[in-house]
Amino acid sequence: MRSTFLPLFFSFALAIFISSDVYSDTPSGLELEIERAKKPMAWDLGPEMVDISQYPPEIQADYKVFATKCGKCHTLARPLNSPYCTAEEWNNYVNKMMRKPGSGITPVEGKQIFDFLVYDSKVRKLSNPDAWNKHIDQILAAFQEKYGHAREKASQ
Ligand code: HEC
Repeated sequence: MRSTFLPLFFSFALAIFISSDVYSDTPSGLELEIERAKKPMAWDLGPEMVDISQYPPEIQADYKVFATKCGKCHTLARPLNSPYCTAEEWNNYVNKMMRKPGSGITPVEGKQIFDFLVYDSKVRKLSNPDAWNKHIDQILAAFQEKYGHAREKASQ
């Protein structure tokens, strides 16, 4: 009696343990990040698209990784229209995003995304600072109009 009771008890406890994990109502780390990313940011208001047709083949391959991994919680507009340009800035932000729970970005993919963002920032942002700054001013003004306050307040 004793010898059958114990294994039965443990398999019952194990079944409860497994099902509580699968059917849990507690949001996962990824779900919490997706919720957090819904807070509007000015950068979201620019285009989600970038013309990569003139970019070198390896950067086009890097773009594919970027497009799959960086559009999971917010749209690609957020990184594409953000004012960050330099290798240092992208190193910081790619690492910050990689550390988020559920981001699912390997170090190799992080490096590819970093390479794409640094190249793309040179072409679209740094090569024509006047036009780029004007673009940033426009999306900041659009954000102010839509939400009634400057973007700085949005993240408080
Ligand atoms: C797991 C969800 C998630 C993934 C995946 C993700 N992000 Fe984010 N991202 C966020 C959240 C949430 C914010 C809002 C600010 C914060 O929490 O850091 C954000 C904000 C940003 C910002 C604006 C930061 C600022 O303060 O101006 C940039 C730029 C950005 N993400 C780029 C990226 C890039 C590039 C990738 C791909 C490497 C990426 N994100 C992948 C969740 C994510």
